[in-house]
Amino acid sequence: MKALLLAGGFGTRMRPLTERLPKPMAPVGNRPWLEHLIAGLKQQGIDEIVMAVKHYPERIIEYFGDGGKWGVTIRYTHEPVPLGTAGAIKNAEPLLGGRFVAINADIVHRADIRALVKAHEEAGALVTIGLVEVADPSQFGVVEQAEDGRIVRFVEKPPRGEKPSNRINAGIYIMEPEALRSIPAGREVSIERETFPSLIAAGRRVQGADVSGYWMDMGTSERYRRIHWDLLDGKLELDLAGEERGGGIRIGEGTEVAKGAMLVPPVLVGSRVKIGERAVVGPYAVIGDDCVIGRGARVTHSILWDRCVAAEAAQLNRCIVGSGLKIDPRHLLHEAVVSVIPEAETI
Ligand code: GTP
Repeated sequence: MKALLLAGGFGTRMRPLTERLPKPMAPVGNRPWLEHLIAGLKQQGIDEIVMAVKHYPERIIEYFGDGGKWGVTIRYTHEPVPLGTAGAIKNAEPLLGGRFVAINADIVHRADIRALVKAHEEAGALVTIGLVEVADPSQFGVVEQAEDGRIVRFVEKPPRGEKPSNRINAGIYIMEPEALRSIPAGREVSIERETFPSLIAAGRRVQGADVSGYWMDMGTSERYRRIHWDLLDGKLELDLAGEERGGGIRIGEGTEVAKGAMLVPPVLVGSRVKIGERAVVGPYAVIGDDCVIGRGARVTHSILWDRCVAAEAAQLNRCIVGSGLKIDPRHLLHEAVVSVIPEAETI
């Protein structure tokens, strides 16, 4: 079975981090989420991947190429105009062939795809939508299911007290190729708002099946941050680089921590990082590869992508800092989300 990864969205809610980067390329634990996702699919026996790209596609294509380094084959589809989730799936139709799993590539999860396929086969469904239960679904669309699990209705952003369930679309779909027939080609189509409701209205079997394991939609910077705290707290398990030093401290290869610097767990430090004297890193800090934390600098509750510099005595609290950004000496940042355009890129 092939996987179709939807990775072409503009990620407007996660700007400025996604201004020039596809959201699924945002690092989670110092590695692009998309890389964790591909490794996870490979572990489940899915090694043929179709990637639907649109926003800064070269950032994905240059990183993954044909997928050989990850033991998978990756083919790419391009969209002259943004086609939306269902439009992008339709656009990929010639590369898909038989049954496939479509996945929103910006959802951080450890879903068991094989369990979804089993539910799909047992129900004899045309489409099986992975579902997750959330405490407050008022920001999402919830589903109403019949007793046999088939989905009968979608309710967008239900007011409190008026929701048929707490189950929301997890952004993972097992689909038969026939489900694509009704999707119009060449225009923007939303899978949740158009395709699924019209299949249900036509009496086709759209099944809902619970997704087990960790699940979090990256969506906003706030949720992106939460994913990292879950990672540091051990609620999300991923294959991370570096060595566990015990007590919630993990450090990558070639990293130098000066005498008198303090790592306050939980903390994840990448490779080749330099941490200066009397610097304090953590609690809840993720430092990307090749970063420099200057003398007396302080980084708490923050995520720094690779190649960042927090110069001498700079302080960062509750920040997310994009690749290659330099914080000047003694600058104080609180609750900031900042990023910089790489010098090599045109403005
Ligand atoms: P926001 O602009 O913040 O809503 O983010 P987004 O553009 O990523 O939209 P959304 O979170 O709804 O997208 C869900 C998934 O579908 C993400 O993985 C997107 O990358 C992907 N996606 C959304 N729109 C398109 C599209 O037009 N083309 C392709 N190829 N993928 C898309």
